[in-house]
Amino acid sequence: MSKVALVTGITGQDGSYLAELLLAKGYQVHGVMRRSSTFTTDRIEHLYHDVHEPGPKLELHYGDVLDPLGLRQIISDIKPDEVYNLAAQSHVRTSFDTPVYTAEVVAIGALNLLEAVRDFRDATGREVRVYQAGSSEMFGNALELPQNEKTPFRPRSPYACAKVHAFWQAVNHREAYDLHVCNGILFNHESPRRGETFVTRKITRAAARISLGLQSRLFLGNLEAKRDWGFAGDYVEAMWLMLQRGVADDYVVATGESHSVEEFLDEAFACVELNWRDFVKTDAKYLRPTEVHELRGDAGKARAELPWRPEVGFKKLVRMMVESDLLAAKKEAAGVEVDKLEAIAG
Ligand code: NAP
Ligand code: GDD
Repeated sequence: MSKVALVTGITGQDGSYLAELLLAKGYQVHGVMRRSSTFTTDRIEHLYHDVHEPGPKLELHYGDVLDPLGLRQIISDIKPDEVYNLAAQSHVRTSFDTPVYTAEVVAIGALNLLEAVRDFRDATGREVRVYQAGSSEMFGNALELPQNEKTPFRPRSPYACAKVHAFWQAVNHREAYDLHVCNGILFNHESPRRGETFVTRKITRAAARISLGLQSRLFLGNLEAKRDWGFAGDYVEAMWLMLQRGVADDYVVATGESHSVEEFLDEAFACVELNWRDFVKTDAKYLRPTEVHELRGDAGKARAELPWRPEVGFKKLVRMMVESDLLAAKKEAAGVEVDKLEAIAG
């Protein structure tokens, strides 16, 4: 019998890599997706199987972590062995504009899921293991560098405060109800599937489009901030490894290296042989009321116990993202040419 996994946030960056990993391991994968007026399944389209074919499958269910009844129904229908809670309003800057909504999705959404799993476990006696997507943003204005599992949380945004809430709810479900819950404290992880408004993808997409004459400027906020950037494909493996251990625990997942936004710009624009200083302007609207200046993780515990280590380093990650965005920009440029021709013909 193959294992059954439920993934919230399956249409997001991490959800898509995690679904790939679980399907490759033979899991039956179920994803919760929100109803939207447009398609949101671009990142997982390649994972659909013909329902008539044998083998591991991906099934999608409409739902929302803010709808506890819907979550309970999905859980009782599919009877998961593992649940991965990746759903979130995950943009830090946006959380300052939508603090209550962000807290509802990130904090109460996580609690809704934990309670649904607990009731299912109690009613059926089946063990369910839960992964809660924690974040290095929880360290915020940390007093120490690098940060590890013992570093106190000092969150600096509505998003980070909500993640801290979800973290402690998960710990409390482990201690109070003996639920098998792991918190991953993941540092920034990126990929060609990263949302276009996060700084890395904003930069690699702009570098590619500028190099092809599709864009002339790039507006950014704070260029001095430093982050520990890894590859999302490596990080979802750590999520899975956490749930394979007999004992539930919390783990920092990071590369151990930090780079500034400026260094990311250097690397990305070098891939297209341009100088970013000729194109980048600052716009205060991308600054945060409270900034997290530097995050760098110490993943020693994950390396020793899971064991896990990242495969993709900083330079390889940046190049991978630029190359993917170049391909997309070339398609866009070809489309632009067709549009121009149509306009002339019309
Ligand atoms: P992402 O690309 O923004 O994906 C977020 C996912 O959550 C999307 O599938 C989104 O659905 C879904 N979602 C949002 N609100 C929801 C709701 N109310 N109910 C159900 N689903 C909802 O984020 P990501 O980068 O994959 O990150 C995955 C998780 O890890 C998030 O919890 C994030 O906060 C956390 N995290 C990320 C990083 C990182 O660097 N990427 C680091 C640490 C922690 P739509 O497609 O419909 O919007
Ligand atoms: N988004 C964005 N846009 N960030 C900018 C910009 C800009 O134009 N200019 C500078 N930055 C700086 C931000 O101020 C921040 O210091 C850094 O670039 C990274 O910003 P993001 O890419 O938006 O990521 P984040 O670090 O705030 O949050 C991401 O990582 C967290 C883990 O530490 C998200 O994925 C969170 O969901 C995740 O928890």
